Amino acid sequence: MTLHIFSQLVLNWYHLNGRKNLPWQRDKTLYRVWISEIMLQQTQVKTVIPYFKKFISKFPNLNSLNNGTLNEILYLWSGLGYYKRAKNIYETAKIIKNKFNGKFPKNILDLVKLPGIGKSTAGAILSFTLNYFFSILDGNVKRILIRYYGISECLKNTKTEKKLWNLIENITPIHNTGAFNQGIIDIGALICTSKIPKCNICPLNTKCIAYKEKEWKKYSFQKNT
Ligand code: ADE
Ligand code: SF4
Repeated sequence: MTLHIFSQLVLNWYHLNGRKNLPWQRDKTLYRVWISEIMLQQTQVKTVIPYFKKFISKFPNLNSLNNGTLNEILYLWSGLGYYKRAKNIYETAKIIKNKFNGKFPKNILDLVKLPGIGKSTAGAILSFTLNYFFSILDGNVKRILIRYYGISECLKNTKTEKKLWNLIENITPIHNTGAFNQGIIDIGALICTSKIPKCNICPLNTKCIAYKEKEWKKYSFQKNT
C-alpha cells in the first residue's frame, strides 16, 4: 500500500515535532478524549489545559460525572464560554448511562447521535483513543486543505464541505490514523495559522499551491469550523 505524499509528510513531521504530551494524550480513555475534544471545539489548547485538569480531577470518569449536577459542570466551565457545550456533556452522560449501560460507545453511528458530537468530533475521539480509521475535518484541517490544494470556492457551500470531506478521507492513512490526525491539527495550529502562516518551516511547502502562488491570503477564511 502506498501512502499519499501528504500523509507521509504529516506523519514524518508528527513523529519529530508533534504534540504528544498534552494532558488528554496521557492515560487516554474515550471519556477523557471526549471531554477534551468538546472543550477544544471552540477554544485553544493553552486555554483548555487548566480547565481540562480541573474538570478531570472533579469528574475522572463517566460514573463520577453522572453523580454530578449540571450546576457543578457549569461551574467548572465558567470562563470557557459556549456554555451549551457543558449542557451537552451533562446530557450525553445521561444518555450513555441509560442507553449504553454506562459504557462509552465505540461505534461512530452511535457517537454522532450524542449532543455536541458531530462527524469530526466523533472521528477525533475514536482515532485518538483507539486509532480507528476515521478522518477529522475541523477549522485547522480545512484551512490546510484549501491552501494546499488552492481551493477558492465559498466554504459555506455544502458542496465544498462535501469536497473537503472527500479530500481528507482519501488522504487519511489506514494505519497511524491517530498520529496523522493529531499531526495535521498541530500543523494547522502551530504552522499553517490563519494569519501569517510559517510556510518556511511547513512540511507541506514543497507541494502547497498557496505557497507556490505566494497567496495564502487568497486561501483564507474566517469561520472556525
Ligand atoms: N483541536 C481539536 N482537537 C485537538 C487536539 N486533539 N489537539 C490539539 N488541538 C485540537
Ligand atoms: Fe499552510 Fe504555508 Fe504549509 Fe501551505 S506551505 S500548508 S500555506 S503553512
